Amino acid sequence: MLGCVQVIAGFAALIFLLYHFHRSRCCRDPLVPDWPLLGMLPHLLINLRQIHDYATQILQRNGGTGSFLGPWFTGMNYLATCDPMNVHHILSKNFNNYIRGPEFREDFEAFGVGVVTADSDTWKYHRILSQSLFKTRSFQMLMEKNVRKKVETSLLPLLDHVLREGIEVDLQDVFNRFNFDVVCSNILGYEPESLAIDFPRVACERAFTEAEEFIFYRHTVPKSIWKLQRWLKIGSEKKLALACEVLDGFLYESIASKREKISKENEKDKENDDDLLTCMMRKEEGKEHANDQFLRDATFNLFLAGRDTISAALSWFFWLLAKHPSVEAKILEEIKEEKEAQYQVYLHAALSEAMRLYPPVPFERKQAIKHDILPSGHEVGPGSVIILSLYAMGRCEDVWGKDCLEFKPERWISERGSIVPIPSYKFISFNSGPRSCLGKDLSFIQMKIMATDILKNYHFQVVGDHPVYPTLSIMLLMKYGLKVRVTKRDGHMMEEDGN
Ligand code: HEM
Repeated sequence: MLGCVQVIAGFAALIFLLYHFHRSRCCRDPLVPDWPLLGMLPHLLINLRQIHDYATQILQRNGGTGSFLGPWFTGMNYLATCDPMNVHHILSKNFNNYIRGPEFREDFEAFGVGVVTADSDTWKYHRILSQSLFKTRSFQMLMEKNVRKKVETSLLPLLDHVLREGIEVDLQDVFNRFNFDVVCSNILGYEPESLAIDFPRVACERAFTEAEEFIFYRHTVPKSIWKLQRWLKIGSEKKLALACEVLDGFLYESIASKREKISKENEKDKENDDDLLTCMMRKEEGKEHANDQFLRDATFNLFLAGRDTISAALSWFFWLLAKHPSVEAKILEEIKEEKEAQYQVYLHAALSEAMRLYPPVPFERKQAIKHDILPSGHEVGPGSVIILSLYAMGRCEDVWGKDCLEFKPERWISERGSIVPIPSYKFISFNSGPRSCLGKDLSFIQMKIMATDILKNYHFQVVGDHPVYPTLSIMLLMKYGLKVRVTKRDGHMMEEDGN
């Protein structure tokens, strides 16, 4: 009996060693040591709090590309890269070989099938549809009008209130609420008024943030774990399901009320500058696929693309300004010249620099269809998952120089005083190639309007020992927000502006 147990144990140990040896042999450039059974997961979990800095550090130590292997038999294996040549290859040169993939859609199932989550012909359809809607002059004007109105009617009065009361305010929360209201106006034609002096709890706004955080969690544990949680309806999966229920209720209600409105409109009403959902419904009218689910997914995807990205960018931008008064002073000089947004070169440079160091989308995930060899020489098998660290790319010494960790808007300005053109596969914050961001220009306009009006009137001081580091989410927001004290910009600036 004892002998039998010894044989089985010996056999098991042999299989164990052979499997471990096989993994080590197949894994080119492991990013960190691979532990038996647990793989590299313990390193990831220990460093979860500063995951993006940690990823930057280990990727750079490995020449920009390396493998991450999860616990045995979990399939949680990735090739991670921040090498611009690999990124250019994946996002542009061999674009057709790298898709979102079914696993991505499974992780992001809450968002349904839309421009951000779809692949192949479905993606093309959504991309062309979205592009046709928000590249129009009328939508751009609507968006600018909504932003200016929101600044005047909500943002400035709220900051005035904070100033009068002498209280601290979470600037990130302010931007989140601002942007949620503006995105709702642009996409749904309805304003939930989440930005108000009493900071109301708006269920759909909360639900959106939570959904993003729980989706990130799915990337940090083996699939079997979150699937088990989903099946048992416990923990983060239970909360994700609840958040989605709230969001679905909100979106389906908007779709129903639009259907009613459209059914009653006459030819003249159709010429109005309307929200994206109305325009989309008119455009898709009569098409078989354009049911409520299609419209829900399409709008949800646009929320995902446009909502937290701008809030994240502005939060890091104002935090960086608070730490770099000389940059703030130069922006103020430019504001005094009262240029139109497109001519605000220094502000453009400072915003770009903030998004280089803190890209609102910190990583992207792609799946290979066929075998391929990346420019770095790494082999990619069919079905391999590749993580592109946009965060690490913005801190790449080879691209940005030895001072890559410094906040220096000047690096973006040429001797002739214009913005230095940098290829999108190097300044990756808006993605690159056929799937690059459709909202880049609109975002710059919105951020410039907001930054100009805020800086003209107020100065922010970050509260003493307020901890600032990223959330664990698919968006690079600040975990504890950005607590600031607000003071009125000195009279000098105001007089010159005639305010
Ligand atoms: C600072 C603001 C923004 C940043 C940094 C940003 C960045 C990005 C990035 C990195 C992607 C690629 C995501 C991925 O493939 O995983 C993306 C895609 C996209 N963005 Fe933006 N975005 C911003 C604002 C916006 C806004 C305001 C809108 C729309 C109103 C928008 C619309 C889109 C769309 C539709 C896509 C999907 C493109 C596709 O897959 O074909 N973005 N954006």
